[in-house]
Amino acid sequence: MTTHGDKTELRKRLRARRRALSEVERFQRSHAICERLRRRSEFQRARRIVLYLPNDGEVDPTPLLDALWGARRMALLPVLRVLAGNRLAFHPYRPGDILAPNRYGIPEPVANPGEAVPPHTLDLVLLPLVAFDSQGRRLGMGGGFYDRTFAFLRQRRQWRRPLLIGVAYDFQEVPELPAEPWDVPLHAVVTETRWIPCAGETPP
Ligand SMILES: Nc1ncnc2c1ncn2[C@@H]1O[C@H](COP(=O)(O)OP(=O)(O)OP(=O)(O)O)[C@@H](O)[C@H]1O
Ligand SMILES: [Mg+2]
Repeated sequence: MTTHGDKTELRKRLRARRRALSEVERFQRSHAICERLRRRSEFQRARRIVLYLPNDGEVDPTPLLDALWGARRMALLPVLRVLAGNRLAFHPYRPGDILAPNRYGIPEPVANPGEAVPPHTLDLVLLPLVAFDSQGRRLGMGGGFYDRTFAFLRQRRQWRRPLLIGVAYDFQEVPELPAEPWDVPLHAVVTETRWIPCAGETPP
């Protein structure tokens, strides 16, 4: 799988499969995934954790909010910054905060750009995805937003955080995704049945 056309086809097929899950299936699978994450030391140690609000049949990570709205922890959500080179900014998300839909209809915090939390100070980021492989390659929705935002992690010697964790249903694993020069690899992927450490990543 090496051409752009393959990526488009794969996106179409796996997005349709994601959306075809019933609400009950999505709920149950999301809960299993969140339970596995909750037990991981990577999650337990993390103080500043980015999640996302699910869209297009994505795994729902919001059951984790209970654990994050306790003492000394911070839940954050991505905010799309078109004027800052189509990057993501990260803003705290607290109970009752007002959200407004972005250009894709996904709700995000209504926040002053000056209050964003710098990406290199985050501990753990949960990323939605369309497909993944065992090398930690990720196929997203195609905007390149996460790749652009975390491009600094490609110098791992200098930047050790945040950990990037893909959140997926088992059926989203594919044998091999095309390697793009701008892709930022995932540290691990968590699914209903597995925690998959990605090849090329060393445990922290
Ligand atoms: N660091 C970067 N600098 C400039 N452009 C980038 C960078 N990273 C990605 N892009 C651009 O973004 C486009 C989409 O990237 P890609 O196909 O990897 O999206 P994706 O990872 O599936 O999407 P997303 O991360 O938004 O879910 C690419 O065609 C590329 O030109
Ligand atoms: Mg990419």
